Amino acid sequence: MIVIFFGPPGAGKGTQASRISEVLEVPQIATGDIFRGKSKENSQLGRKVKGFMEKGQLIPDEIVNEVVRERISKRDCKKGFILDGYPRTIDQAIYLDKALKDMGKEITAVIYLEVNEDEIVKRLSYRRTCNKCGAIYHLIFNPPRVSKVCDRCGGKLYQRKDDREEVIRERIGVYKEKTEPLLRFYHERGKLFKVNGNREIDDVAKEIMDILETVKKGDV
Ligand code: AP5
Ligand code: MG
Ligand code: ZN
Repeated sequence: MIVIFFGPPGAGKGTQASRISEVLEVPQIATGDIFRGKSKENSQLGRKVKGFMEKGQLIPDEIVNEVVRERISKRDCKKGFILDGYPRTIDQAIYLDKALKDMGKEITAVIYLEVNEDEIVKRLSYRRTCNKCGAIYHLIFNPPRVSKVCDRCGGKLYQRKDDREEVIRERIGVYKEKTEPLLRFYHERGKLFKVNGNREIDDVAKEIMDILETVKKGDV
């Protein structure tokens, strides 16, 4: 199974991808997480990606594509994988198709989490992330049991630098301009499944699992 989680910033891609990855027992590959890791490194690449991410702009396609190709060729991806936050441009989507074709694979489904803009800002302004395991919380909708501490690993929770209001607006703008056109790209290829992401986390997860079951059975 190769599943892509698609949607605007804050739609719940990471939240849902992490759950589905546990259920399907395939790795979750989140380009945002990968590059947040690299941005902490004191290397040329680290400094470069940090600049783009803090401003809410996309990292250039050739850098992202290369990292993804390398990651999906690893052994743990043999049974399948989940992409969270990739592809994000038409060029990335074309690159991915080609890379999968070379590997004799193809995309199973693209899950589009549709969420309205007011909800996005609310979600991102109160998001907290674990600095150790990357678990995602929300101070109101999905709070940790103990304030500022990760339920899963005891790590410290922090607020992402790109979750400031002005950067959130920039990210939404970039999404509309560069990423939204992919909806048509995948719709035309019969891969797109739209999910109303404005509902409770559990309800959204249930609908995604139902879709994936149906696709697996070959009913669509
Ligand atoms: P990335 O980390 O991918 O950020 P994003 O796409 O902006 O999405 P987010 O991670 O902010 O949101 P999400 O949809 O995962 O939502 P989450 O589950 O956390 O990318 C960051 C940067 O990296 C980019 O700006 C770019 O610079 C670079 N980058 C990454 N990939 C790239 C690529 N392919 N090409 C170029 N550059 C790239 O949920 C959000 C909040 O809402 C949480 O607090 C959560 O608890 C809460 N929540 C989730 N679901 C619900 C629900 N149903 N109800 C209530 N609250 C909910
Ligand atoms: Mg995310
Ligand atoms: Zn943690």
